[in-house]
Amino acid sequence: MARTKFVCGNWKMHKTVAEAVQLVKELAAGLGDAAGKVQVAVAPPFTALHAAAQAAAGSAVEVAGQDVHWEVQGAFTGEVSAAMLAEAGCRHGIVGHSERRQLFGETDEAVRRKAGALLAAGLAPIVCVGETLAEREAGRTLEVVDRQVRQGLAGLDAGALGRVTVAYEPVWAIGTGKTATAAQAQEVHAAIRKILRDLGGSVSDAIRIQYGGSVKPENAQELMSQPDVDGALVGGASLKAKDFLAIVKGAL
Ligand code: G3H
Repeated sequence: MARTKFVCGNWKMHKTVAEAVQLVKELAAGLGDAAGKVQVAVAPPFTALHAAAQAAAGSAVEVAGQDVHWEVQGAFTGEVSAAMLAEAGCRHGIVGHSERRQLFGETDEAVRRKAGALLAAGLAPIVCVGETLAEREAGRTLEVVDRQVRQGLAGLDAGALGRVTVAYEPVWAIGTGKTATAAQAQEVHAAIRKILRDLGGSVSDAIRIQYGGSVKPENAQELMSQPDVDGALVGGASLKAKDFLAIVKGAL
């Protein structure tokens, strides 16, 4: 089935408020033909979300949070709720990014709770999964991804599942300049599609599966031409308007 491609820039811990506003304006002005044909989002740091959303208003650029806490409110120093993201102007939230898993101890159970909180607040989760280099070399890629997808999405009904995007990000390809080949990406994406079919039946045909890991203007088009690669989650190359726009146009 034809799925609208979805390209999201994850800015990680980059961009001040002024820089975020500037970049969003450049993206909004530069989308051209891609506006309305490719879904486009950016995930600035929390401090710049509101200003980025205001700068994006009226354009095809959407805004995403990079993380969220699963509780509605309370004594959770440093955390931000899904309702707060929504109020700041977000439509999406990233959960389970490998940097959160590796550096901040995020578990599959936390991913599940965070995805649930986003959905409850009317936001669309981007649920990241992916194997480390050691896991790939041990032949465990599909086993790891299977566990992360099933546990991260456990308990969601078909309606909720239909609002989820899965991002496959092999950890060894993130920020390393090493990209999975289009064939490697397609193999794992097809496996994820099967798991989603198991979980949600026919709704799985509508779920976008993004690839992430050193996506650049030079490789974006080939990756996104694979049948189960429905977009990209872009880190480093999303920090410059020219590169990110070229990647978005690679989805056309
Ligand atoms: O969320 C994005 C990924 O971590 C990919 O980052 O494009 O810098 O490799 P990268």
